[in-house]
Amino acid sequence: MDKKEQVAREALNYISVGNVVGLGSGTTASQFIKILGTSPIKNKIVGVATSLSSDKLAREAGIKTVDIDSVDWIDVTVDGADEVDSNLNILKGGGGQLTREKKVRNKSKNYIVIISDEKLVSTIPEKFPIPVEVLPFGHRTTMKEMESLGMKCKFRGDFVTDNGNLICDCKLLESCDLQTLDQQIKSITGVVETGLFLGGNKTVLVSDGVEVKAMK
Ligand code: A5P
Repeated sequence: MDKKEQVAREALNYISVGNVVGLGSGTTASQFIKILGTSPIKNKIVGVATSLSSDKLAREAGIKTVDIDSVDWIDVTVDGADEVDSNLNILKGGGGQLTREKKVRNKSKNYIVIISDEKLVSTIPEKFPIPVEVLPFGHRTTMKEMESLGMKCKFRGDFVTDNGNLICDCKLLESCDLQTLDQQIKSITGVVETGLFLGGNKTVLVSDGVEVKAMK
């Protein structure tokens, strides 16, 4: 069994009958959706998807999905990540669906992040840039304003998010306080959301291929 499958199987233990389950995006979260779809509990939960592709995958697997606005809360969300650091700060958005992922996380009582051990870093962002969802209108101006914060930014080609927006990948030119940076980026008109998932309660499940460790 590979690491993604192993950690996705472990996440099934966090799902209970009657739960509203947030369904993440990306290859690891997709494994979880497929595994959930093979479990008898799938008929006793409803899902809230973080992307159109996760919604489609869930329905194909026989999981009923509902709109996020139709539920008062989400009991537990299972999602992947691009990097997780020693303070359990998380970098997401490699797949470009960071805004829906954050909206679902913010409505979740329990947030389970499933990763393989290669994604552990000392401080985010380490290997990946910070993805930022940006409105198409005035996007080059928005990028210049983000660069004035000390980042080198680049739009992700023709990629369009499920919300019809663009993703700008931003490399930090020097280390800084991430909470402050996150607030500064989000204060720029035209920015929708960032891939910095800082703070908040969460459980990170990490597979090294042999066992799965839970970090809180
Ligand atoms: C999607 O926008 C991302 O946040 C993913 O959750 C993240 O990129 C992890 O994806 P993988 O599980 O495919 O590595």
